Amino acid sequence: MTADTHAKLGGRAAGVLRGNDMGSWTMASAHLYPHQWSWDSAFIAIGWAHLDVRRAMTELEQLFAAQWSTGMVPHIVFRAGQDKPYFPGPEWWDCAVSPSAPAPPVRTTGICQPPVHALAVQRIWQLTPAEQQPEIRARIQALYPRLVRWHRYLATQRDPEGSGLVTSFHPWEGTDNSPRWDRALERITVANPGPYTRVDTSTVADPSQRPTNWDYDRYLWLVELLRKYRYDDAEIYRHYPFLIKDVFFSAVFVLANAALLDLAEAAGASDGDRAQLARWLDRGRDGLTRSFDAGSGRCLDYDVRAGEQIRLRTFASFAPLFAGTADSGQRAAQLRLLDSADFCGEPRLRWRLLPSTSPAEPAFQPRDYWRGPVWPVINWLLWHCLRQLGSCERADDLRRDSLSQIAADGDFAEYFEPFTGQALGSPLQSWTAAVTLDWLAADSGRDER
Ligand code: SER
Repeated sequence: MTADTHAKLGGRAAGVLRGNDMGSWTMASAHLYPHQWSWDSAFIAIGWAHLDVRRAMTELEQLFAAQWSTGMVPHIVFRAGQDKPYFPGPEWWDCAVSPSAPAPPVRTTGICQPPVHALAVQRIWQLTPAEQQPEIRARIQALYPRLVRWHRYLATQRDPEGSGLVTSFHPWEGTDNSPRWDRALERITVANPGPYTRVDTSTVADPSQRPTNWDYDRYLWLVELLRKYRYDDAEIYRHYPFLIKDVFFSAVFVLANAALLDLAEAAGASDGDRAQLARWLDRGRDGLTRSFDAGSGRCLDYDVRAGEQIRLRTFASFAPLFAGTADSGQRAAQLRLLDSADFCGEPRLRWRLLPSTSPAEPAFQPRDYWRGPVWPVINWLLWHCLRQLGSCERADDLRRDSLSQIAADGDFAEYFEPFTGQALGSPLQSWTAAVTLDWLAADSGRDER
């Protein structure tokens, strides 16, 4: 890619963030996701950090303003007006049944998403120009205790076993229709899923790129149960049918604990907080090590209710790489697997990027959301971690191929068909634009990481 192409792509990526900017928060995308999403916001803040670090901090401050008293950061903060329909909206969630939900007029969902936020603050701080450091440092110091509370929630309420692995309560806590959840969803008896009307299938050009109605029946039934348990984590743990130790979520949590430790000096963190973060980090690393299957080189999710490991080949198999903590043996096995025919070495791939599900899996579907397509943000995380692990050449290939994929489409798609590179899902997706800005900076010498 020439310098000119880079500059144009960067200009268009910035245009996407500005176009989706609502002043103090950013729509994940204008039509399909018109509210503020949790992990989208974290990636979006990384993008804003390249344009305006103050605006980047505001994005996170707004999100954390909706934090629950338990410490949970909700997966959606409903902020758009009636002119932007989204289903399921705040009425379906009815979070007022929980004493831990924020007071009106703040309206949120009652589940969460992977904790990319600390990575965003780390990136903002790295990019803060000297003259803005006093202001941004003060804002980071104000936000830091909220980040620690968020992490404490994940380390305790979402891991009562102290396993180092975060328990996911819902497919919407990250990777919706990934085949990782199929067996657990099949076991659920849906007593009363409706009536409901989906909006997403008419917003996206081709509904087959979205989860099915079978999936939605289960997603919505699970929300009914969460509401029945008043979003009380202990009650949920006692009665609820969907509890999965998610190794990808857990890997992001390890990475996020490392990022908070890295920020401890700037944030003026107490010795107690530092020690606590280090313990969560170690416990997470140990949990991932125990979930690593040496025979296959894959890390495995665990279905708590069924008492069984989930053995599918998906991007989550690479959790030790994502956590940035793989030891040399795990790392070598994971890098071999990454470029094997099951993943990036599959000869039909348009670019050597990590697909959400291995093309070798029977459940693989190249156009269907998390069942096969390539997601730029997942490849960004992998790139970030490979650099951290010293696999800089492989990381650089990921960055170059990702930028080629995004530039070929030009519309900053949500996800891509792995064999053709066709853009899928929502166009002008904020987090795709955000990671584009970060990748471009890594190439321009403006990146001093
Ligand atoms: N990913 C979900 C959706 O598609 C919600 O977080 O709406």
